[in-house]
Amino acid sequence: MKILVTGGAGYIGSHVLKALLKAKHQVITLDNLQKGHLKAVTGGEFIEGDLADKKLLNQIFQKNKIEGVIHLAADSLVGESMQNPAKYYRNNFNNGINLLEAMVKNDVKNIVFSSTAAVYGEPKEIPIKEDNPTQPTNTYGESKLFFEKALKRYQQIHDLNFISLRYFNAAGADPEIEIGEAHSPETHLIPLVLDTALKIRDKIYIFGDDYPTRDGSCIRDYIHVNDLASAHLLALKALANGHKSAIYNLGNGAGYSVKEVIETVKKVTNCEFEVEVSARRSGDPAVLIASSEKIKNDLNWQPQYSELEKIISTAWKWHQSGGFN
Ligand code: UFG
Repeated sequence: MKILVTGGAGYIGSHVLKALLKAKHQVITLDNLQKGHLKAVTGGEFIEGDLADKKLLNQIFQKNKIEGVIHLAADSLVGESMQNPAKYYRNNFNNGINLLEAMVKNDVKNIVFSSTAAVYGEPKEIPIKEDNPTQPTNTYGESKLFFEKALKRYQQIHDLNFISLRYFNAAGADPEIEIGEAHSPETHLIPLVLDTALKIRDKIYIFGDDYPTRDGSCIRDYIHVNDLASAHLLALKALANGHKSAIYNLGNGAGYSVKEVIETVKKVTNCEFEVEVSARRSGDPAVLIASSEKIKNDLNWQPQYSELEKIISTAWKWHQSGGFN
């Protein structure tokens, strides 16, 4: 298939791109390189551009017989989204609508969307199922939820088919160490702990140890980025085969606390480093664990990396290699 991947130079996008290339799809990557890395684009055609550019979007669809879109381009910093909401409404919602309009205009019917567990907000029950209430506590989650709502409308009005994938905590790196996580600034727990193991940082802070959890620190559901990638391929294939529009969670179904992540990093890296408990980070739910039964049942998704140690080992190899530097 000929696929357009938006945000294909980013962390998750580049792993999706690599999986598509391995499966012999033809891929066009569109990325504005604001957060992404050109080195993360390991094949196919690359177009540097922004979803704000309606003319460019139209040209891409007019010039190419695109059969499906995987839409990952977005801003994704929760903290920033609460300081600059307009950026998130514009880039994640408005510009996403430009993409949908260009698809409709050029009769492209299938889209896989990169959504997030942040659409749920503070969960009402654990594990979180797809039909749980969606009450995002930050603009980032809200912008993604708005786009999911737009997808439902476009389906109703324009027969656009979508699969929205709500990621929990993406982690790990390509086991071939060609690509991996490289954010600037980095805010995610696992890469920050690995940087601490490498002495790039002095210490790691645990943001609160007074949560109602087994050890007082927050619990998250870490999913290997290649398991995320494989879900995108299954989703795209399902849509091509006439699968109806759907929303799926993507997680491991197992939760690990911040303290457990830190201990696992120590074990995997064999490095000692300083750990300090600091204040809670605002807006952090105590526990986020996905139920991913729906995608397992519907699309036969089978994650390959269920253990945290395995996930962290791939990230550690990538970090040791120096990343894209
Ligand atoms: N944490 C620390 N110290 C740090 C960094 C993080 O204790 O230095 C803690 C956080 O408080 C949180 C956990 O580690 O409890 C994981 O934090 P991350 O920043 O790695 O990930 P989040 O769970 O905050 O966010 C992730 C994605 C978001 C998405 C969200 C959905 O990065 O894009 O999951 O819940 F919105």
